[in-house]
Amino acid sequence: MFEHKPIGIFDSGVGGLSIVEEVFKQIPDADIIYFGDTAHVPYGPRPAEELIRFADEITHFLIREGAGVIIDACNSTSSVALDHLQEKYSNPIIGVIMPGIKSAIKLTKNGRIGVIGTETTIKSGSHAKNAAILDSDIKVFGQACPQFVPLVERGDVHSKRAYEAAEEYVTKLMEKNIDTLILGCTHYPYLRDVITAILGSEVKIVDPAIETVKEANLIFNSSGKPLQKKNKKEIYYVSGDPNSFRKVGSKLTGKLLPEVKKVIL
Ligand code: DGL
Repeated sequence: MFEHKPIGIFDSGVGGLSIVEEVFKQIPDADIIYFGDTAHVPYGPRPAEELIRFADEITHFLIREGAGVIIDACNSTSSVALDHLQEKYSNPIIGVIMPGIKSAIKLTKNGRIGVIGTETTIKSGSHAKNAAILDSDIKVFGQACPQFVPLVERGDVHSKRAYEAAEEYVTKLMEKNIDTLILGCTHYPYLRDVITAILGSEVKIVDPAIETVKEANLIFNSSGKPLQKKNKKEIYYVSGDPNSFRKVGSKLTGKLLPEVKKVIL
């Protein structure tokens, strides 16, 4: 029923484009409808009730626009709103927390996993809760990184400031002797260079996008029948300034985004 329908993807801003890029790698024929809630970015410092309301309004909008599978590409709303969305809507809604944890558990050798994320994500303890479901011996160490999202939203991902912020956050986790680090915010893959520069090559980095999109693909292609392809559709909506989203999104992805439309929910 949801097979081959456009994949709906949402985030607070440009961060979810890291998931869009992975969708295009794994499911090149998929149509996508993206919503970036840039009027409300950053989500990280906002209370859970507010994020549940935003996630609900956006999901409702994406389904109305024709989306089938929905990817909640935001770790903050995946941490606090996913249960609510999955109970309310019949569309399959995939979050990014469990896929990230699954990948990290496959990689870790010493069972010590670090997570960097927003204040909301880290405060929710969602990664530790999901890890405990799969393996009670795993230890999860969280670190909130409030400076990261504003940097990425400005497209400022290689500057001295970005490097210094990464140094402050990542060093704290390295002191916990982690051997695997989850990028627990969809904005952070765009800071991978500065994060790796601090982390070195010993600690493995997990981008939850890969496993998340694998799960979406199972539903998108559930019959195994090839998609009868016409023109591929790529639609972008934001609640804030469409021009700045397009400019920064194009810079981060290295690809000129098509027209971005503004919509108030
Ligand atoms: N990219 C989102 C996340 O994965 C939200 C970041 C924010 O707006 O604070 O958590």
